[in-house]
Amino acid sequence: MAMFLKRAAALGATVMMIGLSTAAAQAPSAPAPEGAPAWAYLVKPPGYKLPPDDGVPRHVPGSTVRYKVSQLRDSFLAPDWHPQEHPAMPAVVGRGRRPDVMACGFCHRATGTGGPENANIAGLPRAYIVRQLREYRSGARTSAVKDRLPTDLMMATSKALTDAEIEAAADYFSAIKPTPHIRVVETARPPKLVQAGWLMAVAPGKATEPLGRRIVEVPEDLEQFEARDPHARFVAYVPPGSLARGEMLARTGGESAMSCATCHGEDLKGMDDIPPIVGRSPTYMVRQLYDFKVKARRGEMADQMEPVVANLTIDDMIALAAYLASREP
Ligand code: HEC
Ligand code: HEC
Repeated sequence: MAMFLKRAAALGATVMMIGLSTAAAQAPSAPAPEGAPAWAYLVKPPGYKLPPDDGVPRHVPGSTVRYKVSQLRDSFLAPDWHPQEHPAMPAVVGRGRRPDVMACGFCHRATGTGGPENANIAGLPRAYIVRQLREYRSGARTSAVKDRLPTDLMMATSKALTDAEIEAAADYFSAIKPTPHIRVVETARPPKLVQAGWLMAVAPGKATEPLGRRIVEVPEDLEQFEARDPHARFVAYVPPGSLARGEMLARTGGESAMSCATCHGEDLKGMDDIPPIVGRSPTYMVRQLYDFKVKARRGEMADQMEPVVANLTIDDMIALAAYLASREP
């Protein structure tokens, strides 16, 4: 992993170039194939540094626990702010295994809620989690945008996992009940935004900016999110009209004529080993629809999504993701 991290750091410049070229490809271009939407695959801006550790222990609402900033930045620790809210964390979730397996709960948070830069894995079906981890490990599941550090680290971590660790993590995360934490707001002018590392946040002040054709998902309280509190809540700004259009597309399947409910269940909360798609990060959802479309996700069951995404435009994906995120998980 140490070597991998060095390589990843060296890749910083390349990553930015990819970010720029995908942004350029995002200009309206139908019917030619659309490039990866850069806003969904955010990369850290060059030179971005976390604020220095001020030595002040952090706390979050509703918890008596205190963590030092250095602990909150330790990739072999899942901060456990609300220990009463989940079953005992297996070692791989809470601490990982040095040197190659970072703690699952460091990125995905102690109860799997995650953030827009990774994935909410709370309450996913056990067999689905196992399949995804094996497919990251085998290389069948990758990302449309290469050299984006969060996904690269997910893939690197999975390569070092034992089958027993995969089973333990899947048992744990599948047993957690997902909770609502996203508020979807249709608007053409969200508050002015800034990039905070791997995600967007609201800039101080009262200014606004045009949304355009994208989803911007921001934490309601950036500090709480950065403290890795699974109670962190998000607002997703989506273009006006997305919710109604997304509902129509989910119901009819658009050109594919395949209603999402056929496979994801009547309430879209998942069925057997097919995952739930409601109440989850809309940014993550758009990445997945796009990854299926360009076959960066080619696992054992990914072909079922092929006809569904074949004719979806980025605007369709935005509408679907907005609608799905607006529903209770
Ligand atoms: C360095 C941060 C990081 C660590 C550590 C990490 N993940 Fe991930 N994980 C990610 C990212 C980023 C994604 C989403 C990639 C994308 O958007 O395609 C992801 C995706 C997943 C998914 C797919 C979710 C879905 O709905 O398909 C599962 C399951 C998962 N991780 C489980 C785990 C488990 C279990 C561990 C611990 C063994 C772990 N992850 C450790 C960053 C991480
Ligand atoms: C024919 C069955 C089928 C239909 C119809 C279908 N899906 Fe899926 N979907 C799947 C399967 C199977 C998977 C899991 C693939 C895998 O394991 O790699 C999946 C996965 C997904 C994922 C990834 C979730 C995650 O956790 O990473 C998203 C997003 C998704 N589907 C959205 C949709 C939407 C939106 C629709 C309707 C427009 C839809 N699906 C219709 C079968 C289907």
